[in-house]
Amino acid sequence: MGLIANGLYALFRHPEERDRLEATGCDAAPMATAVEELLRYDPPVHIAVRTALTEAEVGDTRVPRGTILTLMLNAANRDPGVYADPHRLDLRRTGRHLAFGLGPHFCLGAPLARLEAQLMLPALLRGRPELAEDRVTYGCGFVARRVQRLRVRLTRRPPL
Ligand code: HEM
Repeated sequence: MGLIANGLYALFRHPEERDRLEATGCDAAPMATAVEELLRYDPPVHIAVRTALTEAEVGDTRVPRGTILTLMLNAANRDPGVYADPHRLDLRRTGRHLAFGLGPHFCLGAPLARLEAQLMLPALLRGRPELAEDRVTYGCGFVARRVQRLRVRLTRRPPL
């Protein structure tokens, strides 16, 4: 559920982006694009761990065989060499991100997680949610970085 809470919190912090998204009617296509950007901007899983099976070079760094590597997916998602203005939430941005990893261990649950967010966020937005408390805390495990509790007030009854 980290994607929905982190994503909704990002929308609260970027009211212009939220307004623009809502102006699209939160239709399937703009919503799918927005969910990808929310994944890039504040990924709920921020670390992947690997062991170097062979000696390798990463940039200027020599990585000896057997090294345990902690890969920061959230940092990669803000790489200025890849993304223009990487710290800006732009819900119309397109392109790849590493929120679900990459390669053979790519997240098996990615289609489910995407679908949940694509359905749940518009449903929540239809209720015109407002943040119900100022202080929002993240629960940070080694691998996950998720909004721990997000109290919201729906200001209208969501239409069925
Ligand atoms: C927004 C929600 C989710 C995020 C951000 C996420 C993120 C990730 C990431 C980054 C990896 C790669 C880890 C690595 O490379 O070491 C991964 C792997 C995996 N995820 Fe997810 N995940 C999410 C939801 C789910 C769900 C809902 C399921 C299951 C229903 C799931 C099942 C898995 C499995 C089984 C793997 C391991 C795949 C492998 O090692 O081959 N994930 N996930």
